Amino acid sequence: MNRTEIYSRSNKGMREKSFSISERATEDVITGERSGRRMGIKNSPLLNLEAGEWNPRYIQADAIPFQDSFYRVLPEGENMRDYIERMLAHKEGRAIGIELAGVGSRLFSDFTPGFFRKTAGINLTDSRDFDSPSIKGDDAKRNHTVIEGNILTPETRDDVKQWPHGEKIDLIMERMYGGLLILPQEPFFLSDRARMWYELLAEGGLLFAESPQALRPHLSQWETYIKEEHADKMEVSVSRNIIRIRKLQDVPLELLSARNILRR
Ligand SMILES: C[S@@+](CC[C@H](N)C(=O)[O-])C[C@H]1O[C@@H](n2cnc3c(N)ncnc32)[C@H](O)[C@@H]1O
Repeated sequence: MNRTEIYSRSNKGMREKSFSISERATEDVITGERSGRRMGIKNSPLLNLEAGEWNPRYIQADAIPFQDSFYRVLPEGENMRDYIERMLAHKEGRAIGIELAGVGSRLFSDFTPGFFRKTAGINLTDSRDFDSPSIKGDDAKRNHTVIEGNILTPETRDDVKQWPHGEKIDLIMERMYGGLLILPQEPFFLSDRARMWYELLAEGGLLFAESPQALRPHLSQWETYIKEEHADKMEVSVSRNIIRIRKLQDVPLELLSARNILRR
């Protein structure tokens, strides 16, 4: 029996159990956010703009720059904004970006003004009013919005798909931090959801993600497999639980299926 089959058999009962735990925890987060309760890291910026550069010791009470999470999968010395804008230069002024599991306001406000045509944060709730009274107005000026929804459901995916009128997305960011703990820790389910979002990515588009624990032990092997057998379709860089993907060819792929991620 290979590893995929072992997972598939032993996790059948666990799957049901972990889904119901996850649903309860998710409901708690929604209730908390709707009442303005601060729950850990929120609405983080892309860069540490106060210091002007990446600083590993930069700690802010309720936000951590995305740069501090993803620098390990970037070319050495390049910051996230410069890298993303360079890789998406062909889409300047027309690019579309989303953050999964975050309101995305501060994240997208750190890009060069006008680089993105429209951006959205896909979050359980639109909690921006608790951040600052002016944030929604500022977002509207930059054509940024928040779409409320659960990123694990195809309904939310459908809402996001309609939002740019069927156009594909150039940048997808996901960094859930503590939020990862309330996801069902079931590799088949998780990889299926990763694939669901990857399908919305445009050719040449970038996806940055923090992996849930259930997939983490398999990521470096999966990276090797992609590099050896599918380097023409997907560029991938993994460091611990952090992933950067560049979609080189928009072809129907099974590369994110659990069968391929949990390879021997
Ligand atoms: C720790 S916060 C991180 C926020 C942001 N990504 C950042 O780095 O500043 C986790 C966020 O994940 C969101 N979240 C958790 N589970 C989610 C789900 N299933 N669908 C959509 N959002 C979710 C919560 O609403 C919360 O805003």
